This record gives sequence, C-alpha cells and structure tokens, in this order.
Amino acid sequence: MNKTIAVLVGSLRKDSYNLKVAKVLEHLAPSTLTLKIIQIGDLPLYNEDIDTDNPPASYTRFRQELMTCQGVIFVTPEYNRSVPAVIKNAIDVGSRPYGKSVWGKKPAAIISVSPGAIGGFGANHHLRQSLVFLDMPTMQQPEAYFGGVANVFDENGNIADKSKSFLQQFIDAYAAWVQKTA
Ligand code: FNR
Repeated sequence: MNKTIAVLVGSLRKDSYNLKVAKVLEHLAPSTLTLKIIQIGDLPLYNEDIDTDNPPASYTRFRQELMTCQGVIFVTPEYNRSVPAVIKNAIDVGSRPYGKSVWGKKPAAIISVSPGAIGGFGANHHLRQSLVFLDMPTMQQPEAYFGGVANVFDENGNIADKSKSFLQQFIDAYAAWVQKTA
C-alpha cells in the first residue's frame, strides 16, 4: 500500500540545496511512497505557555499534517556542527503536548546536505540522538552525508548522474525500511 512520507527540510533559504535535494527525492521515490514536504518555517519557537489553551494555528496544522504521514525523512544542512534550529524546533513542536507526540514509531531517515567535504556528518548524528528518544526507528544504511552539493546541479537545476544514483539508492533503501517497520 502507498505510504505518505513527511519530508522536513532544515533550510528556509529560497535557493536551498537541501530543498533541491528534497525535490529530487520526491521525483525518485518508488510508487510505494508519496513524499510530501511539510512547512516548518512558520512554527513559532516552542513555548509551553502559548501551547497550553490555544495553540498557534501553525502548531495545529503541523501536527495534523504529521498525523496523516506514515514516515519522516529529514533533509538537513549542518549549522555549527549540529542541527539547524528550525529542525529542532519542529521536533519539539511535534513532541508535545506530553503524551501526544506525532513522532512515535514512524520510520525515519536522515540525509544531511552540505557544500562542505564532510556532508553535514555532525548534524546527521546529533539529529539521531533526538530520534532515539522519540522512538522513531531510523534507517542506518546507507548513511547519507551528501557533501560537495554546490557542484552537482547544473544551470537548469538538473542533478549529476552520480548524485542521482546515490539519492535513488537512499530512497529505495528507505522504501524497504518503511515496508519492514511501518
Ligand atoms: C553553515 N554552514 C555549515 N556547513 C557545514 O558543512 N558545517 C557547518 O557546521 C556549517 N555551519 C553553518 C552555520 C550557519 C549559521 C550557516 C548559515 C551555514 C554552511 C551551510 O552548509 C550552507 O550554507 C548550506 O548551503 C546550507 O544549506 P542550504 O541552505 O543550501 O540548504
């Protein structure tokens, strides 16, 4: 059966490489998966005071969208060797109210994307720490540290073949992971 997979992109930049990679993954996804990029840039910084009686509409919208998805892919840059605040904030919003987390048991995968040589390794692994606590079975292999991303798109936005096959391998492995765990 086809599963809807939330894609969270950790950059809000219009010309974001991470967004470009997320869009390529959308196209490469096998027919068992429908990838859906979920907006996280409009979520106010998590604050229990504003979440108590009348949560912001964006919190409600985000939680409802996540509830309709059967898995999550994180496509994230690395900021200062860790996860950008927008990703961590989205995780925090989705984890509350206490006992109503949207994350539990959803199969996850992480791809970190950077122009740098080590492909956002630090962000990739810091993110895994939260996913353990959130009880998300997270794909281990293939590890996906997408470095040198500034050199893989041509002027028309097409991605180089080698990178495309890496992303194909990643999304196919994730589809198998979803099959096994969801
Ligand atoms: C960065 N960048 C960066 N890159 C990296 O490989 N490791 C790092 O620790 C950091 N730290 C960092 C901090 C901040 C605040 C910014 C704005 C940037 C560079 C980053 O990888 C680059 O800007 C990417 O292009 C960001 O991804 P998008 O926006 O293109 O998707």
